[in-house]
Amino acid sequence: MCGIVAIIGKENACRHVLDGLKKLEYRGYDSAGLAYIYDKKMFNIKSVGKLNKLINAIEESKFSKLESSKVAIGHTRWATHGKVNIKNAHPIIYDKKVAVVHNGIIENYEKIKEKSFLKSYDFETTTDTEVIPVLIDNFVKKGKSFFESAKSTLKIIDGAYAFAAIHQDFPNEIFVSRNTSPLVIGIGSDFKVVGSDSHSITQLVNQVIYLEDGDYAIIRNKEIEIFDKKDEKTHRKIVNVNTDIGFVSKDGFRHFMEKEIFEQPNVLINTISSLLQENDKIDINTQKIGIKKNNAILISAAGTSFYAAIVAKYWIEKIANIAVSVELASEYRYRNPSNVGFSSMIVISQSGESIDTLMAMREAKKLNLKTTAIVNVEGSTIDREADYSLYTRVGPEIGVASTKSFTSQLTVLFLIAIKLANENKTINHKEYQSFIKLTKSLPNSLSKCLKMNDEIIDIAQKIKNTSNTIFLGRGYLYPLALEGALKLKEISYIHAEGFAAGEMKHGPIALIEENLPVIMFLISDGLEDKSISNLQEAVSRGARTILIGDRKSIKKAKFVNYSIEIPEFEKKFASTFSPILMAIPAQLLAYHVARERGTDVDQPRNLAKSVTVE
Ligand code: M6R
Repeated sequence: MCGIVAIIGKENACRHVLDGLKKLEYRGYDSAGLAYIYDKKMFNIKSVGKLNKLINAIEESKFSKLESSKVAIGHTRWATHGKVNIKNAHPIIYDKKVAVVHNGIIENYEKIKEKSFLKSYDFETTTDTEVIPVLIDNFVKKGKSFFESAKSTLKIIDGAYAFAAIHQDFPNEIFVSRNTSPLVIGIGSDFKVVGSDSHSITQLVNQVIYLEDGDYAIIRNKEIEIFDKKDEKTHRKIVNVNTDIGFVSKDGFRHFMEKEIFEQPNVLINTISSLLQENDKIDINTQKIGIKKNNAILISAAGTSFYAAIVAKYWIEKIANIAVSVELASEYRYRNPSNVGFSSMIVISQSGESIDTLMAMREAKKLNLKTTAIVNVEGSTIDREADYSLYTRVGPEIGVASTKSFTSQLTVLFLIAIKLANENKTINHKEYQSFIKLTKSLPNSLSKCLKMNDEIIDIAQKIKNTSNTIFLGRGYLYPLALEGALKLKEISYIHAEGFAAGEMKHGPIALIEENLPVIMFLISDGLEDKSISNLQEAVSRGARTILIGDRKSIKKAKFVNYSIEIPEFEKKFASTFSPILMAIPAQLLAYHVARERGTDVDQPRNLAKSVTVE
């Protein structure tokens, strides 16, 4: 993961690098640092912890010529190789001369360290990155220019990476390269800036170049020379970006996650209105998705986006009668999947940068499948590489836990399901109209669900000290059980597992012990009695049961310890829409438990918002 920013030719380069890094903390926040050159001398400052620590450290101590330097690189880290400590924080600097900020993994770094021509080098860090400045230094010492040295380094390193390098003897140049991990160059009139995404640099520029895989470039104040993987000089498209949304504030909420949960009714209006025309036609082109008669649809994603995919499978199969196969993106790429019976893959990603999802999509392309991305970040790698994109349009999601992205992804997927159903004539016009009407009513229904907040705070206080929990759901609510458990574990650090209610007796029931909280999502859909029996089985073994359900199901399950009733929704359709509606209590429960436990809700330990390493 990690975020990179680099600037050349601009007054106060270090400050601008810090501004860019602030927007990249979603990529990691274990440690941060920057390096700059002034008067042909390299300076650097690093700190362990979030970027604020670095900013405070800079403010507390006087750093020589920090304000005067016009060339600087900076980094916010998510550790892959080497512990989180000052030495391993980037920039990784060799001999106070070469500094490198790196995102990704150099896979053959151990072999490189053993190379005989590097025998005289002492490696000071335990990172994979350090081989880059060492190799550059080695080639410079042999008489090559900085550019040629960095280019020779590329011939030796393997992996998925993006990096930027500076050398104090070549203060007018930044070398950058990307292989899989993203890198964007921003074009100012007499300065240039580099970032891991365009958002990190659009406070300075509104024209950018997205480097392509295998590209490398030498960047000077007024000039950028780009080369492709065949070492041929190349030109990449200049893209106008006007996306500087500035720094997002918490608007009075305690955490971004809380704000993002409460934003859902409003942002869902954006999702829906961008895909629904005034005449109630859905603005989704199923031909572009590439669905062919008698073929199944493949949906691939990671984490929460994957759970949205499972809900979509249930919807599309039931409503449109088209077979859907869901694949964890991290598995799809390496298992030599068959394309028989498939013509299209839909990938789902908030960030548009998850490497597993990107790679699954590239694999699908190799297998001649048409690719569609359901993505939030426009201009992200997945958006740019997909054949067709549909946007969730929920604005920046800052909290590491996915909240508004999930409900908006579900909404887009639901619209795909009813568009397909309408085209396949598996629903009639009246049913189509009902689905559209209810989709339009979702923002209002979510507002009502948010009123459950106080009741959920009570439940959160009751379970906050537990070490284990189980989430259960059936049908459309099975993926929500998985999502509820993921949400709770990632921000509260309580061990949580989600299961299909019917699976309990096949093994997980062994986990039940006195007082273990078992949380069930339930909607009366004709199968509720079966789930209630599963809950009874847990009660018999001492579990504390929490039921989040509709009035009818709660009435039937009077034996539970606590119940929370969701607002009434059009009966015939309540089950279909239940994963969207019940996402709210699932998110609120995780949020309040984590807040009660005092964890870092928005930036939980060991995680990053965008997962760009395998
Ligand atoms: O940006 P993406 O949707 O591709 O991210 C996928 C997962 O990394 C993400 O959903 C992750 O599981 C969240 N932390 C869950 O809250």
